[in-house]
Amino acid sequence: MKMRIRELLEAGEAEHNCTVSGWVRSLRASKEVAFIVLNDGSNLSGIQVVAGRELDDFQAICRISTGTAVRVEGQLHRSPGTGQQWELMADAVRVIGSADDSYPLQKKRHSFEYLRSIAHLRPRTNTFGAVFRLRSKLALAIHRFFGERNFLYVHTPIITASDCEGAGELFRVTTLDAAAPPLMNGQPDFRQDFFGQRTGLTVSGQLEGEMFALAFSDIYTFGPTFRAENSNTARHASEFWMIEPEMAFADLADDADLAEEFIRYLCRVALEECTEEMVFFDKHVEQGLQERIRSVAEAGFARIDYTEAIDLLRRSNAQFSYPVEWGLDLQTEHERYLSEQIVGGPVFILNYPRDIKAFYMRQNEDGRTVAAMDLLVPKVGEIIGGSQREDRLDLLERRMAEMGIAREPLEWYLDSRRWGSCPHAGFGLGFERLVMYLSGMDNIRDVIPFPRTPRHAEF
Ligand code: 4AD
Ligand code: MG
Repeated sequence: MKMRIRELLEAGEAEHNCTVSGWVRSLRASKEVAFIVLNDGSNLSGIQVVAGRELDDFQAICRISTGTAVRVEGQLHRSPGTGQQWELMADAVRVIGSADDSYPLQKKRHSFEYLRSIAHLRPRTNTFGAVFRLRSKLALAIHRFFGERNFLYVHTPIITASDCEGAGELFRVTTLDAAAPPLMNGQPDFRQDFFGQRTGLTVSGQLEGEMFALAFSDIYTFGPTFRAENSNTARHASEFWMIEPEMAFADLADDADLAEEFIRYLCRVALEECTEEMVFFDKHVEQGLQERIRSVAEAGFARIDYTEAIDLLRRSNAQFSYPVEWGLDLQTEHERYLSEQIVGGPVFILNYPRDIKAFYMRQNEDGRTVAAMDLLVPKVGEIIGGSQREDRLDLLERRMAEMGIAREPLEWYLDSRRWGSCPHAGFGLGFERLVMYLSGMDNIRDVIPFPRTPRHAEF
């Protein structure tokens, strides 16, 4: 019977006549016996295969190279050696796909930079195996979290005509001839384009998500988002995945409550359902990781107003490269200082100046802030951005006019404030930033299977 290595080991009893297939991680041979570490991606350690000289093709087995795909039939026994509980005594070892010495993943430890240059092969390493198993588990757990709370899962469009965040970071989607587009007053005439208007890849599913929240009450999206921002940092990708819940009849405090419950849930999932991976990260990527995540899973998150955060930063006497002043956005260095030095854990910053935030956020009574929230965590900085939405038609229209946002393409959005508008709020969690936070990995390029960043899309 064909089994994944993980299932075989979890069965935890001597199995007869089992078959596993995988890739050779290492092979050690003597005259009498060969030890093969075989990994099929289902767990970290793989399985130790023992091939004795009584096998017909023993000499050929001893010459199998790292990276070769093989199928092994044999008997599972308790291992007399240290380092593993079980081993597979081979009755037959068959090469399915050979590999030679030019295989880049030989025994030595490679740098993450080098592995990025072979992103098509790095899933076969211990670190990336662990990262992508964690990522997969978290994705499933996110659906479980919202499913258990009766949130509707909605697929918002990837091609869109609206720039939700208003930052002008849309990748253009067009079928016009780039070299000779039809012109109108010297500009490309998008009325002749495929969709009859300017379109791009979505930067957020929020605006469409709001429409569904105003019908289903509680919804979430989980999909790819695209941003053509030219920032080459360890935290920005041009293509990333975002989870965006939206709740009707909810305010900013409800929003922060949900975000906190959500993050703490995901910390527990990592610790309890990805134990092997977390132990590995703790040992090889970030010492003390499990303790850090455990404390987040257990303690409440701090909540402070933006205005107070600015005061705290100014009074700290710390040296920053960017200025700290009321009205300016927080930079990563400020965000990290707040969560790492001042709070020592995750912290919500609430009620930002309205001039640095998007048009859709609810305006506060003070006339200068909006009901926005960012969740900042140690190491990563901003992991969640959210807000209560402006649900009052007149104020929303006025704000759009002030910010020079064309209303015609957003009439459908304004409709939701015309008929049955209600207080509602939501947030976006950057999925890669979550994986970075929970694994301790420092670079966003190392938690996405095939990262897209400025000038990089080769795989
Ligand atoms: O703060 P942002 O821009 O918020 C929104 O897009 C809202 N529409 C969300 C909402 O309220 N429904 O992005 C949300 C999160 C950020 O906190 C960050 O974690 C992640 O998305 N993010 C990125 N992750 C990787 N690379 C980038 N370039 C990112 N930009 C944002
Ligand atoms: Mg943000």
